[in-house]
Amino acid sequence: MKRPILIHPDPRLKKVAAPVEDISDELRKLSDDMLETMYDAPGIGLAAPQIGILQRLIVLDCVKEEGETPRPLVMFNPEIVAASDETSVYEEGCLSIPEQYAEVTRPAEVTVRWMDRDGNAQEESFDKLWATCVQHEIDHLEGKLFIDYVSPMRRQMITRKSQKLKRERARG
Ligand code: NI
Repeated sequence: MKRPILIHPDPRLKKVAAPVEDISDELRKLSDDMLETMYDAPGIGLAAPQIGILQRLIVLDCVKEEGETPRPLVMFNPEIVAASDETSVYEEGCLSIPEQYAEVTRPAEVTVRWMDRDGNAQEESFDKLWATCVQHEIDHLEGKLFIDYVSPMRRQMITRKSQKLKRERARG
């Protein structure tokens, strides 16, 4: 089932999400819903706070090439355990800030530890787009958005545009 995505500004997007204690069927269903919502958008990542659920859960799939096998990842309580000194710059967007993009500098490679949907501990290193995406999604669990990395002036401008789009959508 698709879930509505919160649009910035929204106080729920600024909150710190709570750790997941144990992975219930309800949470597994939620992760399925999040993947469906993400693919439909379409997007390459989605964090639970973006659908108003303040729990530490993200989903992502950065396989974008036509004909390549999708790789949906579901991460409960994801944690960055190592980050490279080397950085990379990507033009980022966010399903909660439609039509707005900005270049963000982040570590080029990160090692992430998480619990999968069966409750097994996983650890993997990510680079390129995957590294950027997983960091962006984990930021959401801290109430942090990609616009928090740009200048205050640029952030205000993006926020005004997002607010306007949100009002237009609410009007229908
Ligand atoms: Ni986002």
